[in-house]
Amino acid sequence: MELLYLGLMSGTSLDGIDAALVRLDQSSPSMDASLEAFRTIPFSRDQRASIEAALAGGSQPAASVRELARLNRKLGEWFADAALELLNDAGVESESVAAVGSHGQTIWHEPPAKGGRSPGSTLQLGEAAVIAERLGVPVVSDFRARDVAAGGQGAPLVPLVDRVLFSSPDRHRALQNIGGMANVSFLPAGSASPSDPPPIMVAFDTGPGVAVIDRVVQELTAGVESFDRDGRRAAAAQPNQILLARLLDDAYFREPPPKSTGREYFGGEYALRLIDVARQIGIEEEEVIVATATALTAHSIADAYRCFAPRGQEPQECFVSGGGARNPTLMGMLSEQLSPMPVADLSKLGWDPDAKEAVAFAILAHLFQQGLPGNVPSVTGARGPRILGKLSPA
Ligand SMILES: Nc1ncnc2c1ncn2[C@@H]1O[C@H](COP(=O)(O)OP(=O)(O)O)[C@@H](O)[C@H]1O
Ligand SMILES: [Mg+2]
Repeated sequence: MELLYLGLMSGTSLDGIDAALVRLDQSSPSMDASLEAFRTIPFSRDQRASIEAALAGGSQPAASVRELARLNRKLGEWFADAALELLNDAGVESESVAAVGSHGQTIWHEPPAKGGRSPGSTLQLGEAAVIAERLGVPVVSDFRARDVAAGGQGAPLVPLVDRVLFSSPDRHRALQNIGGMANVSFLPAGSASPSDPPPIMVAFDTGPGVAVIDRVVQELTAGVESFDRDGRRAAAAQPNQILLARLLDDAYFREPPPKSTGREYFGGEYALRLIDVARQIGIEEEEVIVATATALTAHSIADAYRCFAPRGQEPQECFVSGGGARNPTLMGMLSEQLSPMPVADLSKLGWDPDAKEAVAFAILAHLFQQGLPGNVPSVTGARGPRILGKLSPA
């Protein structure tokens, strides 16, 4: 039997809501999934500003409880709008959707401290009840909470889906997502089904993706540009090696997995400090700063492969998803760092690179409905496999 699932995702970049409609063939023993329709519905300036206002951290004042509650409601409406727009585009009635998997917008993500010193906490907003009310479809949401409750990082949650959809029978692969943050799943050769026992695999956040580059560009253009379109600024200069070496000398990069990160660490304040250090070193040309921020992402990814890829199963090819795949300068630097490993974007495997994370949450909703775990304990550090998500009935 074929079923439709709708995945909704907004990442740390705050660029917009990704909505993916996924067709799953349940009769197939391995997971047979295809992308029916996909859209990114960009946030307006006002929407983005109201989310940014809620992102607590560092010296930024946290939003009031009232503001957070209102934002939760508003995000629920925006996710519902995005889902309805996608269904309308695709000419699909909401009644034919088995369930929505909604990640929500991360407002706070703090992984548990190593050695059990403090438990993790994570918060995604975008009221699922609002989405269920507007669509009349069951909504599975809050996927990270259970993994965190079980002592895990709550992230990354895409590895199981990566493994099921993108493993190769005979090649070891790296599936690299570059959104605001960057994360990798190392997929040993061999096929996998979601009902297999949880695989032992290595996957983690490698560090910053495009969030630092975006913030540096916003700062240097006084907000006129929100990202380095087509990597043009970074392409106009060479990275500064002194600054790059300083940035790479960071405890996060040395820490072995499980690990995850977010804007709390590699966000706006980090980017402003980066610009300060650049000025102290005497870097005047702005393009050099953008090029160095771009190199930071490429080098930290390649270093992570060298340090933490599973021994004997080092990746032979790399497939990139997320908005970072659209930055040719970043992709070029990554290819150079990973050489001779071939680096391509996910379209090489027949999937829209921008859709992967939304697809993953559609499939996680399906796993929830099947009563199957969605986390990989060896990846998140959770005490065991857990069914992820909470249900808002239709
Ligand atoms: N044409 C482009 N050139 C360079 N960067 C791009 C381009 N299109 C998108 N991006 C980058 O992709 C980001 C969005 O990527 P996305 O995967 O949606 O991240 P997130 O999951 O954090 O929302 C943007 O903030 C921008 O930095
Ligand atoms: Mg996005």
